[in-house]
Amino acid sequence: MSNSETQETLETAIARQNDAGLVYIFDTTLRDGEQCPGAAMTEDQKLEVAHRLEALGVDVIEAGFPVSSPVQFRAVQRVSRELEAPIIAALARAVPRDIEVAADALKDARRKRIHTFLASSPIHMKYKLGKEPHEVLELAVQAVKQARDYVDDVEFSPEDATRSEWDFLVELVTRVVEAGATTINIPDTVGYTTPEEYGALFAHLIKHVPNSQNIRFSAHCHNDLGMATANSLAAVKNGARQIECTINGIGERAGNTAMEEVAMALRTRGEFYGLHTNIRTEEIIRSSRLIRQVTGMSVQPNKAIVGDNAFAHESGIHQDGVLKNRLTYEIMTPESVGLESNRMVLGRHSGRHAFKDRLVRLGYILEEEEFQQVWNRFLDLADKKKEVYDEDILSLVNDAQSDQDFQRYELSSLHVSAGSGSVPTATVRLIDRENPEEPRTITDAACGDGPVDAIYNVLERLTGLAIKVDRFRIQPLSEGRDAQAVASVLLKIGDRSFAGKATSTDIVEASARAYLDAINRSFTAQTEEITETL
Ligand code: KIV
Ligand code: ZN
Repeated sequence: MSNSETQETLETAIARQNDAGLVYIFDTTLRDGEQCPGAAMTEDQKLEVAHRLEALGVDVIEAGFPVSSPVQFRAVQRVSRELEAPIIAALARAVPRDIEVAADALKDARRKRIHTFLASSPIHMKYKLGKEPHEVLELAVQAVKQARDYVDDVEFSPEDATRSEWDFLVELVTRVVEAGATTINIPDTVGYTTPEEYGALFAHLIKHVPNSQNIRFSAHCHNDLGMATANSLAAVKNGARQIECTINGIGERAGNTAMEEVAMALRTRGEFYGLHTNIRTEEIIRSSRLIRQVTGMSVQPNKAIVGDNAFAHESGIHQDGVLKNRLTYEIMTPESVGLESNRMVLGRHSGRHAFKDRLVRLGYILEEEEFQQVWNRFLDLADKKKEVYDEDILSLVNDAQSDQDFQRYELSSLHVSAGSGSVPTATVRLIDRENPEEPRTITDAACGDGPVDAIYNVLERLTGLAIKVDRFRIQPLSEGRDAQAVASVLLKIGDRSFAGKATSTDIVEASARAYLDAINRSFTAQTEEITETL
């Protein structure tokens, strides 16, 4: 992007700030989203996601929790240095060192925000903090004052707000606003509230907190009862003007509010809400796919907006209706979220030009060297399967890009024998880059209950790691009996979880590669030790 384009984006973003009908989209994929099992990202991946969020048009990016680990600190620092238009937020407990470290990580951001939080519910104050309400009030005020010494934009969150006493919340919010908080976020930390109750809480706070018209109130919902989106929308109906959310709704337990759902609800039902966001909704699918790729977490086919079936009309009656008039069964167009409706399938005879053109339409402009790698992979794949779909092409690009990351283990060869009446056996050869200067080859064999179990037994032996498979799934990537399959796993290695994913026309090979992908991610993550947790 050129400097003048960037400048325009920044100026537009600032000018829009005072628009009363604008709902800020505060994206916390890199912080709350990343906290869920297996979603850990490398520093480079976080940067790639941050750039994608900027292209998507989010107003605030919560880039991390800097005190928690050196990776988190550096990610916030790099995002602060590279991004232009969005406000960059960093999370900090109401603790002096957290706030100092957050301010330091944000130092180079053009627009920065410290987001500090402290629990306010009776159960959290008593059992988690061991503090009396008056002590919580004092700590919150001190934290906000300290944060204001570093930045003008301070957000305060009373954690577990929806299980807090309303009178206490009014007092706490009033005090932190007096201390200088500019945004008040009301987290439904445990996903307990309902739309009616949550909406009423916002209305109550806005009515009873002095000068509330000068404050931006914010919704932050978890999806434990499947109501995160509905709750967030009830909040904006009652005066909130910021929604905290994640792409694909990833996050702790059942996840956070899904960005794509609230953005499309506010766009599709604009006449009902009378509100809008800055989200470029045509970028939604591309963003969703990037998050699937970097976290290795797929989305359910019937997931609203971004699921594979979200725009598929299967029944004859529906298809007939849509052909006569799309509005019969379609409330949003696939194009409005960035899905192309007339997809052309590529194959062995498609030329480089057609392939390059398709990549550009999928959002990838690759350097010649990278393009050549992806093209070679495309030719290999087109030899194995007749029709190559967009999903296949995206996975080729993703595989080529993740091959550039450090990989401790690489699958060199795999032989499996299985069949009814025989003992499934796998022989695996790996390249081990413990010392990247001198990679070595290691080989072993093992039996198992089935071919995949046999492979996983060998890999466990070869890597010497104690691994528990928490999830293992195989899904076809596209149509037809020659379709590629995506294998995804969630492995528990030590006390942390790592997701892995791989694609191949051979489901056994995909299973082996997915397992190795998760193991390799655990090595990237281990280079940095976590020092603090939430
Ligand atoms: O869910 C929650 O309470 C949070 C806070 C840290 C805002 O994520
Ligand atoms: Zn949260």
